[in-house]
Amino acid sequence: IITASSCLELTLAMIKPHATKVPYIVKGVQNIIISNDFYIVRSKQMTISPDLAEAFYKEHKDKFFYNRLITLMSSGISHVYILARQNAIKKWREIMGPTKVFKAKISHPHSIRGQFGLTDTRNVTHGSDSVESFKKEVSLLFPEFNVNKWYETEEIHFR
Ligand code: TYD
Ligand code: MG
Repeated sequence: IITASSCLELTLAMIKPHATKVPYIVKGVQNIIISNDFYIVRSKQMTISPDLAEAFYKEHKDKFFYNRLITLMSSGISHVYILARQNAIKKWREIMGPTKVFKAKISHPHSIRGQFGLTDTRNVTHGSDSVESFKKEVSLLFPEFNVNKWYETEEIHFR
């Protein structure tokens, strides 16, 4: 039996705290999730502590934007999603648009960051950039979620 889920991939998406305060942006992002055929596997709202934000963005520790990134990410409620789709990681990053909002506005005006981005830090959403990053991010934000087990049993989730 070939199921629609036979090549689903998972990714971790997040609406950053400044954006969850704006219903228009939350609705806009949720519409984009649905209209691009993502399944919402898990979703929750949480306030990320500074320690958790630092673990999440550890790779950026020496960057000039690190402090303002940690301050933003721990400033309020984030909406966090595990999404499933074919090529979910690549597709979600495509839909988000470039990291730098000035670039997104010019070259990808219909992307999430092109439409709703404010600054490079307040660029609305996060998306995993690889399977390795996804696994690391899930272990931090959904510690009870077993990625390997989900893949082993994925077809039964959508029967
Ligand atoms: P990065 O992983 O490069 O971007 P992405 O979110 O597209 O994977 O950077 C992580 C976050 O750091 C980014 O979403 C916002 C912030 N950031 C800045 O504030 N200024 C910058 O110049 C860059 C590159 C990132
Ligand atoms: Mg990144």
